[in-house]
Amino acid sequence: MCGIVGYIGDQKASDVIIKGLKRLEYRGYDSAGIATLNGKLLIKKSVGKVAALEENLTNSALDGNAGIGHTRWATHGEPNDVNAHPHTAQHKKFALVHNGIIENYDVLKKQLEQKGHSFATQTDTEVLAHLIEEIHESETMDFEKAVQLALNQVQGTFGIAVVHQDYPDMLIAARRGSPLLIGINGSEHFIASDASPIIEFTNKVVYLDDDEMAIIRNDSYEVKTIKDVPLTKSVHELAMSLEQIEKGGYEHFMLKEIYEQPQTIADCMRGRLMVDENRIQLGGIEAVVDKITNANRLIIAACGTSWHAALVGEYMFEYLAKKRVEVEYASEFRYQDPLVDENDVLLVISQSGETADTLAALREAKKRGATVIGICNVVGSTIARETDAGVYTHAGPEIGVASTKAFTAQVVVLAMMALQIGLRKGTIDEEQMRELIRHLDEVPEKVDQILNNQDNIKELSKLFTYAPNFLYLGRSYNFPVALEGALKLKEISYIHAEGYPAAEMKHGPIALIDQHMPVVVIAATDHTNEKMVSNIEEVRARKGRIISITNSNNGDVNRLSEFSITIPHTHDCFSPLLTVIPLQLIAYYIAVNRQCDVDKPRNLAKSVTVE
Ligand code: AGP
Ligand code: GLU
Repeated sequence: MCGIVGYIGDQKASDVIIKGLKRLEYRGYDSAGIATLNGKLLIKKSVGKVAALEENLTNSALDGNAGIGHTRWATHGEPNDVNAHPHTAQHKKFALVHNGIIENYDVLKKQLEQKGHSFATQTDTEVLAHLIEEIHESETMDFEKAVQLALNQVQGTFGIAVVHQDYPDMLIAARRGSPLLIGINGSEHFIASDASPIIEFTNKVVYLDDDEMAIIRNDSYEVKTIKDVPLTKSVHELAMSLEQIEKGGYEHFMLKEIYEQPQTIADCMRGRLMVDENRIQLGGIEAVVDKITNANRLIIAACGTSWHAALVGEYMFEYLAKKRVEVEYASEFRYQDPLVDENDVLLVISQSGETADTLAALREAKKRGATVIGICNVVGSTIARETDAGVYTHAGPEIGVASTKAFTAQVVVLAMMALQIGLRKGTIDEEQMRELIRHLDEVPEKVDQILNNQDNIKELSKLFTYAPNFLYLGRSYNFPVALEGALKLKEISYIHAEGYPAAEMKHGPIALIDQHMPVVVIAATDHTNEKMVSNIEEVRARKGRIISITNSNNGDVNRLSEFSITIPHTHDCFSPLLTVIPLQLIAYYIAVNRQCDVDKPRNLAKSVTVE
């Protein structure tokens, strides 16, 4: 995701835009750029935060009362000056900023190259600029029409703002899947990704909906669909504070990011989970898929929550692709003089792409000739740049220190990798692939169902707010989820919690169970259900307080639990994508009840760049 600001009115556009971009930096901060119209098109852009752009502007302030700006969260192309938005086309007559992913950018790029277009950047966004120019210049039409026709050729998501030097009193905005709204204040108008850049000027906003565009002029605006159907949109009056707006109306970034998961999981699969073609397309590892498939050893190294995702990946690779996997703590791997060589593949997982231990593990493996691939969330991060290949999670900036949406996105990437390799190896046939892809494709909607039905989560969280300890139990795919649920609770509520393989409980931890011990039992995998029921009986016999995460038709578990959180059913191997959601919420609500600093827990940092 990124931040977009547009302005047209009596003020100096660059002042309004820069201030607005700073308020949107929580949406992405890889680079920033601005374009204004002052008789001609003026553009400034630079890698880094908005402050760097502002610095860049001091001695060449961009004049003009109309303009657009962008603070980037890269998805295609390293964060650098060239890839920073705004982007132009061959003749540099207009500038465009974009939030989203143009899935068919490579097809469009090849078509445009055949028509003589040459590209200056690695971004998908620049392709849209050239497409608009190609359409506008190949036939005589209004510029807004060219934008409209171009958008009809786009597959994927966009929130765009466009200015053209030959149309000095016009801004164009359009959206599909990325938020955009228009601020209205008499004769001045604003475009923004959320209301935070607008709220100090006006609380009157119009929300664009998918496949809608707005043509904004000095004193008026019109909204239509990208199929040219005029629309009348209602004007909303905002009551939220600036801080609330940045958090999307949620109290904390962590809660906002938990709720983003239906969208971020869908974004992670976008253009990669090819349902109609019954296949997976992971461009970032295309060149090394055979290497992974035939590797002597596939080792996954990570830290913290990413290590939990790695453990889920182990179960997935072994079940779906019959590929043996070894999961290592990155911090241990790097110091054990690892026995890896050119026949091995190391997969590193890191949300930030900057974790020192994970980076060190990557370097140790490369020194020994292994192929290293990465799963990162931050494009152009150190780990992403030093791997031989990789897949980005496209989860957008994760601001809350406790990782939530990055975890589910990491698990989705691992699932897609395992499916792709399973199909190549023949351990999954076409029919099984169709069934598995269908299950994975349904996950965003099922996560949404869980998020929309969580009253008993709030209630039980109140009851256990001051419990001194928690136990989390899971089997198979959900053993790593038990670890992840315990970590979430520990790191934001400071309650001691342990995750265990459920069967392991009787080898010691069961001594801890009494009437004061809440035991969260993850019982949502068909193939281990009977055993989980036995584990629950064992806990009940010691008066433990059972909180179960299970499916609504799981009569035994529901009957035996004090609290039963029911979630939709899915294929066992994808169940962590659903079972983790209630655990994230339990940790969140308990931490809020304990008045902990949920987004910035004590002693922690979002990215552990120290060893
Ligand atoms: C998870 O909630 C924690 N913030 C922490 O364990 C984190 O997962 C770990 O530091 C790894 O970070 P990375 O994914 O950015 O490498
Ligand atoms: N896909 C575009 C890019 O990588 C836009 C990313 C964003 O939404 O910031 O530049």
